[in-house]
Amino acid sequence: MHTALARRLGLRLPIFGFTPSPEVAAAITRAGGMGVLGAVRYTHPDQLEEALVWMDANTDGKPYGVDVVMPMKYVGDDKLDSLGDMIPEAHKRFVDDVLQRFGVPELPEGADTPGGITGWMHAFARAQVDVALRHPIRLLANALGSPPADIVAEAHEHGVLVAALAGKAEHARSHTEAGVDIVVAVGHEAGGHTGEITTMVLVPEVVRALPDTPVLAAGGIGSGAQIAAALAMGAQGVWLGSVWLTTQEYRLEPAQPSGYSVVTEKLLEATSSDTVRSRVISGKPARMLRTPWTEAWEAKDSPGTLPMPLQGLLVANAEARIRAAQSRELMGTPVGQIVGAMNQVESVADLMSRFEREFEEATDRLLELRG
Ligand SMILES: Cc1cc2nc3c(=O)[nH]c(=O)nc-3n(C[C@H](O)[C@H](O)[C@H](O)COP(=O)(O)O)c2cc1C
Repeated sequence: MHTALARRLGLRLPIFGFTPSPEVAAAITRAGGMGVLGAVRYTHPDQLEEALVWMDANTDGKPYGVDVVMPMKYVGDDKLDSLGDMIPEAHKRFVDDVLQRFGVPELPEGADTPGGITGWMHAFARAQVDVALRHPIRLLANALGSPPADIVAEAHEHGVLVAALAGKAEHARSHTEAGVDIVVAVGHEAGGHTGEITTMVLVPEVVRALPDTPVLAAGGIGSGAQIAAALAMGAQGVWLGSVWLTTQEYRLEPAQPSGYSVVTEKLLEATSSDTVRSRVISGKPARMLRTPWTEAWEAKDSPGTLPMPLQGLLVANAEARIRAAQSRELMGTPVGQIVGAMNQVESVADLMSRFEREFEEATDRLLELRG
């Protein structure tokens, strides 16, 4: 797996792991890949600062990255205070009705009011970038669209490479025009925000469109054989998000008596048919576990989702209530179709060793086929 990009970044393995968990990100980096910490859940820059201080102390000086979310287009960018007024009453009533139907109580008195997706607002994302660039990160990734030119320039001044996610070859092309160094080609089957084109079709398309830019393959990858397939299609590495959710180090949700969280238990049971591409979380299509909550939004009486960022604001409180109540029925998470293969809890190190072993088996099989 010695790709040119892995050599350039000093990685033993060209495996990039997106995760909102610092423990998982650090473990991916220590195992020879590149852990990329998702910053969107840190609603205050000080929280990200604390997480990155921890990352610096737990990555043995090996390369890691940070992922921020700076969407190109949405309503009300600088009207944060008045955004709530733009949410129709019918939508608020619908959310309350669904939660009432499932017996989800209000948040306890004095509980933190959830910030919603404030991390997706440009001002927040910029503050996160400022924090991230004060740490020895090697990669800055942006989830939705090309990062602004000044941020690309600033990252480059710090010797940090910039990556951006793309679901279409034309988006990938505009990323490179914006100065992006690495394009992550994200297929339809991916967890989180995702487009219409599958990984198998998208990766070669993006590789062909960008002969001078390293491409990472993402979406549905959860084995060494799939990593081999991605590299065979011309990718210089892979970008994985879902598989880390069932690793031992992923402990963002409270554990049940079984030792696992409700979400982990649901992930272990889910098949590849149990995800849905829905606008419920953000207003843009993202793949997640199908639950009665996502189904309610697709039912006949649903008012339909709102555009970004209103949908995120609308559901922030509801999601906090669902989590506070630990509602087994309604709890979910972004996850891709690879969830059907996530059937056991493994440590990150074991998962990475398995990827290496399976990669060798797959490439040996192919060599035999050459005769
Ligand atoms: C729980 C979860 C949260 C995610 N949140 C983000 C995010 O904040 N920023 C981002 O760039 N991508 C996010 N993604 C998408 C990943 O970066 C990646 O594109 C995707 O997981 C790859 O496909 P896979 O899930 O099949 O591995 C998320 C994915 C998951 C599973």
